Amino acid sequence: MPTVLITGCSSGIGRLTTQRFAAHGWNVAATARHPETLAALEAPNVAALALDVTDEASIARAVAATVERFGTIDVLVNNAGYGVFGPLEAMSAGQLEQQFKVNVFGLAAVTRHVLPVMRRQHRGTIVNVSSLGGRFGSPFFSAYYSSKHAVEGLSESLRYELKAHGIRVKLIEPAHFKTGFISSLECVTLSTYEPQIDTMKSWVVHQDRKAPPADPIAEMVFKAATDPSDRLRYPVRGRIALAIHAVLPDAVWRAMMGAGMSRRPRS
Ligand SMILES: NC(=O)c1ccc[n+]([C@@H]2O[C@H](COP(=O)([O-])OP(=O)(O)OC[C@H]3O[C@@H](n4cnc5c(N)ncnc54)[C@H](OP(=O)(O)O)[C@@H]3O)[C@@H](O)[C@H]2O)c1
Repeated sequence: MPTVLITGCSSGIGRLTTQRFAAHGWNVAATARHPETLAALEAPNVAALALDVTDEASIARAVAATVERFGTIDVLVNNAGYGVFGPLEAMSAGQLEQQFKVNVFGLAAVTRHVLPVMRRQHRGTIVNVSSLGGRFGSPFFSAYYSSKHAVEGLSESLRYELKAHGIRVKLIEPAHFKTGFISSLECVTLSTYEPQIDTMKSWVVHQDRKAPPADPIAEMVFKAATDPSDRLRYPVRGRIALAIHAVLPDAVWRAMMGAGMSRRPRS
């Protein structure tokens, strides 16, 4: 059976994706910063491995352990990530750097370590979990959304250079789904922005209350991983927003997004 290595499997999308691939009989290298969080996932075809995307040595160890146990890596799912929420002015340089270290440089580091394995076999698929936030901006998500824009640019560029090596690149672009994401949001604030932050937060909470479970994302990751076509982008529950964004004049779209800072959700 083919082998997939997934980052960020302690919760949410990574966990569900592990279960999805394992149920299809794949060999799964399920990785997390704290591998004890993966105990419930272990099975004959699931290896629980330590991997912090900001720690090159842990990446090298996890990739080597996967190849040793399963012989190869056919699919890499770069899923690990988190968000910083709040005004850019309130963020320390360290907070902004850490956002990119995990969401962008971490993803690039894991990819660099897996690529020699995929190139040797002249086959492989890299599935990068981006976000609808990789396609447009939103108030107080400057750090998180810019990191996802970087993931989009990296992935779209990388697909050109890997095509000749038989390696595909895919982007998953989910809208809001219920996972550990909101509870792990790192929030920063500054008094001068507080009324708008408060209103935007009420939208985030409102959307999270309505957000569905993330199983369709895991399904989409599996679909993208097994899709032999050259398709790059796989939105999940975001087609309408993307269609509206594509047809609305920029100024109208921006007015709509900006309204979230002054108008609270109903109910
Ligand atoms: N949920 C949504 O609505 C949504 C929408 C669009 C995109 N996404 C993206 O989906 C991905 C998964 O998020 P989620 O929604 O499933 O949230 P989640 O439940 O909070 O899961 C995030 C995962 O990333 C891991 N992680 C964070 N920093 C890491 C690091 N340095 N090294 C390794 N793993 C690390 C976390 O591990 P720990 O437990 O160790 O912290 C956790 O396993 C993220 O890239 C996120 O940006 C989510």
